[in-house]
Amino acid sequence: MESPSGSPPVPETPGSAALLAPAGGLERCATGIEGLDNIMGGGIPRGNMVLVAGSVGTGKTTLSLEFLVRGAERGDRSLFISVTESAAKLIQNLSTFEFFRTELIEQGSLVFVDLPVVYDRLGLGHEELTREEIDIVIRTIRDLVRSLGIRRPVLDSLTSLCYRIRRDEQIRDFMLRLGEELSAAGCTSLLVSEIGPTTGRYSLHGVEEAIVDGVILLWNTRRLGDIVRVLQIVKMRGTAHSRAQYVMELTPIGILMAPHLKGGRETGGP
Ligand SMILES: Nc1ncnc2c1ncn2[C@@H]1O[C@H](COP(=O)(O)OP(=O)(O)OP(=O)(O)O)[C@@H](O)[C@H]1O
Ligand SMILES: [Mg+2]
Repeated sequence: MESPSGSPPVPETPGSAALLAPAGGLERCATGIEGLDNIMGGGIPRGNMVLVAGSVGTGKTTLSLEFLVRGAERGDRSLFISVTESAAKLIQNLSTFEFFRTELIEQGSLVFVDLPVVYDRLGLGHEELTREEIDIVIRTIRDLVRSLGIRRPVLDSLTSLCYRIRRDEQIRDFMLRLGEELSAAGCTSLLVSEIGPTTGRYSLHGVEEAIVDGVILLWNTRRLGDIVRVLQIVKMRGTAHSRAQYVMELTPIGILMAPHLKGGRETGGP
């Protein structure tokens, strides 16, 4: 595949969906999405902070929600911090999937928080967050995670938050501190990154992708007139993983993955 211009090329492993054997010793956070767990030896290494990067409609939110629901079912309390879509709308969309049960929300295993509501309550009205306001955001996320005993947080999207942190050094500082807090709380986290199809990087500032432990890249490609979703793990610290491309289907029973067979004319890419 063509990697985003300006970023290192992403080599491909030969075509087949080689299943990676679980590595001994390392604790895994199984995403519960079977195809995804299979290509990284059983799951995300526990404690990793992972970017889920992709352009519009590639399935970033759906993948993140399934990660949380499957986690909640396994006893990992899960938190969805939403910046762009309201919790009510997300829950409505989620109820179209067979793997979702409303009891998970009722019993507090799956928690939704609207960040704009939090901003309002904290009086964070400035378009650009000051250093003190960034501190408040980090402390708020930390306190939520600790007080609720969260093991799986998702931030959807990191991009919307980073729009309000303008300078690269502040982004770096924010990411490092967020990573420290989440990892100290024993969390395995997903941060959604909205990227254009040809931005040449996986995040708004480019700084974010260097700091996170993993990058899962999603994009749309056109094949014989159809739009196909493709997933590829670009990096995942602490584990061997496939770097091949997989076709990702969003189905009522959850995300299904299959090897992306090459050949034929395709347009579009990450
Ligand atoms: N219940 C469902 N079953 C199958 N596909 C669905 C279902 N609900 C949504 N979709 C598909 O998922 C797409 C949206 O996916 P999702 O919201 O996860 O993408 P996204 O990458 O988060 O998009 P955005 O960048 O707009 O936030 C829809 O356009 C639709 O094609
Ligand atoms: Mg989304």
